[in-house]
Amino acid sequence: MARGWHIGIIGGSGLAEGVGLDEAQEIPVASPFGEPSGPVITGTLGGVRVTFLARHGAGHRLPPSAINYRANIDVLKRCGVSDVLALSAIGSLREELAPGQFVVVDQVIDRTAGREGSFFGPGLVAHVGLADPVCPRLAALAVEAARGAGAVVHPAGCYVAIEGPQFSTRAESRMYREWGADVIGMTAMPEARLAREAELPYAVLGMVTDYDSWRDSAAGVEAAEVFAVMRANAELARAAVRELVARLPAERTASPIDTVLDHALVTAPEARD
Ligand code: ADE
Repeated sequence: MARGWHIGIIGGSGLAEGVGLDEAQEIPVASPFGEPSGPVITGTLGGVRVTFLARHGAGHRLPPSAINYRANIDVLKRCGVSDVLALSAIGSLREELAPGQFVVVDQVIDRTAGREGSFFGPGLVAHVGLADPVCPRLAALAVEAARGAGAVVHPAGCYVAIEGPQFSTRAESRMYREWGADVIGMTAMPEARLAREAELPYAVLGMVTDYDSWRDSAAGVEAAEVFAVMRANAELARAAVRELVARLPAERTASPIDTVLDHALVTAPEARD
């Protein structure tokens, strides 16, 4: 039994049906930040507590810009989740990252615009460090788990988060490659920022669904292609989650991310609203 672990899973495109939890039940949990994407489902997997939330809601109704990322992270926190693994479809900006393969992201570039990206603001100011936006311990577990499930896994990659919902132009796609981005998606930001502010270790298991539009010869990205690859890989992603919980250390030791707010709040206690 893995003591102290409670894994939150945010399921992306193609994974709205969940990860096959035992004794699954919906938790009635509300957030002052508004409506999460859908019901929060908790259960167990191999004896480990796992709580699941479908990022785009039932029937994929929410585009990336309309997701209430704050409410999603907040409800997972309120449910007592210890760590958050995001499962996401990603496009590839590198020849060697082929559709069907997995990338465990280690860096992020944020090109989103207008999304609520912090729990803090006037009345309570905090500046958390985000130099390393994903948790190395959870990311390493995700790499081993996805390999154990039989996936081809790349253990690092820089993810550029775009606003969407359109895919990128060829010029943008080539620019992101020059910036050093390896994969592209529409949701890891502000998810990663908010998870850090919520003191939740966070990692992204990205599933490559397509080559983005940087290649000369190829046509641009098509949503149908993205979703077909996602559907074909959903079972592999579920297997990776099962492997992950099976590989958790017997006891969860503290992560520095569990207490980042100890050093981040800058509003004086007497001035807090
Ligand atoms: N998600 C999956 N493929 C993508 C792409 N090429 N661009 C942005 N988000 C994606």
